Formats: sequence, C-alpha cells, structure tokens
Amino acid sequence: VPLKEVFKEKFLVGAALNADQTNGQQPAELALVKREFNTIVAENCMKMESLQPEQGVFDFKDADNFVRFGEENGMFIVGHTLVWHSQAPDWLFVDEAGNDVSRDTLVARMRNHIHTVVSRYKGRVHAWDVVNEAIGDQETLRRSKWQQIIGDDYIQLAFQFANEADPDAELYYNDYSMLNPHRRESGIQVIQSLKEKGIRIDGIGMQAHYGLDYLDLNEFEESVVKFAEQDVKVMLTELDITVLPFPTKEMSAEISQNYELKATLNPYNETLPDSVGTKLAIAYQGLFEVLLKHQDKIGRVTFWGVNDGQSWRNNWPVKGRKDYPLLFDRDNAPKKAFQSVVSLV
Ligand code: XIL
Repeated sequence: VPLKEVFKEKFLVGAALNADQTNGQQPAELALVKREFNTIVAENCMKMESLQPEQGVFDFKDADNFVRFGEENGMFIVGHTLVWHSQAPDWLFVDEAGNDVSRDTLVARMRNHIHTVVSRYKGRVHAWDVVNEAIGDQETLRRSKWQQIIGDDYIQLAFQFANEADPDAELYYNDYSMLNPHRRESGIQVIQSLKEKGIRIDGIGMQAHYGLDYLDLNEFEESVVKFAEQDVKVMLTELDITVLPFPTKEMSAEISQNYELKATLNPYNETLPDSVGTKLAIAYQGLFEVLLKHQDKIGRVTFWGVNDGQSWRNNWPVKGRKDYPLLFDRDNAPKKAFQSVVSLV
C-alpha cells in the first residue's frame, strides 16, 4: 500500500523533487512519486539563485515544470524557499562596486523577488517556505547578510510581502535541528514575534535531517508539542536519516588527503549490512510512532529526496559518500524502513 494511502487520514506525505525528475529525465523516480506521495517540494529550482540568477532576469523553466507536474497529479505543492542566506545569487547583497547595499535597496530587492515569484504561482503553489534557516546556532537569529543589512525585521517583511502576493497560500517558517532546545526556543520566538505584530504565519517546518546517532525522540516530541502550542501547523519538511558517521570539522577538512579517514567515514561504500538497515528501520519507526501519537498536530511529512541514490546526503556533510537515508533504495524498491513505518498503521 502506498505511503499516501497509509497515512491518508493522518497527514500529507511527500518528497523533494529535483529538476532532472520533473523535466522527465528520471521516469522511474517520477512513477514512484506519483504512486507514493500526495505533496511535493522543489529541492533546488525555486531557490533564489535558480529563479533570479541575475538581477531582474528570472528563469522559471524548471520551476514551471515542477509546478505543472504537481498540478497534473493533484498534489499539494510547496515552494522552497523565498528568503535564505544560502543559494542566494552573487549580486543580491552588493552594489556594482561590491559594497553592501543599503537597507532600503535590499528590502526593495526582497520585495520584488517575493512579489514576482509568489504572484506567478498564485493559486497554484499552495504553500511557501517564506524564510529558511534564520536561527543561529548560538544566538537567536543568525547573522546572515539579510539580518545584518536589514535587521531582525527582515523576517516580518518577508512574510508581509508573501502575504500581499498571495493571501491564500500558506506561509511557513523552516529551519534545521529544531529538536535542539536552544533552537526550539528561538523557533518559538520567531513565531511569536510575527504573531505579536499581527503577521500571518501558518506553519513551522522542522527540516529533520537526522542520523542514527542524531535523533533524540524525547526532544523531538517536546518540539512538536511546543510548536503546536503556538497554534501553527507543524511539519517535517526535509526528512532523512543518515546511517553514516557525522565528521568533526577537523575531519571534514582533512578527509580528501587522508584515505583511512575517508574509509572510516564511508563504511558502506559497497552495500549496506542488514544490521544497519534494521537500525534505520527502528529509527524511522520510533520517529513515526511520535508522529502518529501527535497526528492532530502534524500537517505534512516530506522526505528530502525520492530514493537513496539521489539523496543530497551522499554529499553532505561529506562529499562523495554512499548513504542510505530514505525509505526507497537505489532501485526504487521499498526498504525495511518502509515496512517498519507502514506497519504502524
Ligand atoms: C540542498 C539540496 O538538497 C542540494 O541538492 C543542494 O546542493 C544544497 O541544498 N536545508 C535546506 C535545503 O533548506 O534547501 C537544502 O537542500 C538542504 C538543507
């Protein structure tokens, strides 16, 4: 039974799609997506560097194909993402001399980008990750160029502009490691500061890039409950669970020259041992038990990718490893983790 049927009465289930897929180069993956999922998000093609690589020059080709695929298949379509410090085009924060632009200029650029993109897909893209990863690992807000040039209120401006452009689209805040207590608190503050000013925010996305050694289910549950108390939809927006060890910063720097280190950090370069597949299945099962327990609070669960072969985790946090973080293997076959999750319902 496909995932979307299994969880039909609970929450939407989806995947992030890349342009190769929606442009038709990966028909097997697309068939899987049609069969299993009822919601999609754009993995890269709606990021600002993709949509507006040069100032005022928009490229909607991949995004149009993505949206068309979702419409043809009656899916809930999520746009990702309007305002982010990463995958932003080179011109965005600077003037011709290469100096930081003024606050007014950056606000105008933000407004133009959001209005152009959101208006184009008005009534077709059902929800937007308006702001992505605004929280700092130490401080409440990350000191990104957005924050430095505009100030903390860049978040509220982004939500206002998105609301102007499509008052019917759902508007989300999205960030990683939301089970970390400091980051959870900061997430709550982001939601509250918008609500206090009367600015609409409909949901919070917990990215959910987890690992066999990085998934504390108690902290996770605490975050789901606390976010739901803020009266927003809670979503898992970028779910994957790596089976590979997380390197320290020093290891990452050294890995290209150090063969032994590379082997240690890439232990399943040939195949995945059954024992590790079982561990992954147990991790997914534990996570979905919490999700089902709180199904009244969870709006959507989206995997970051379709199958293990094309998951970004093969290249993050270390480039060129072989990872197995999703429910479908490199041949698009359901894994033990798939069975462990569907067996709960
Ligand atoms: C990742 C994509 O999966 C990669 O293909 C790309 O090279 C980098 O970005 N948090 C996010 C996503 O919000 O947009 C990121 O996606 C993963 C981390």
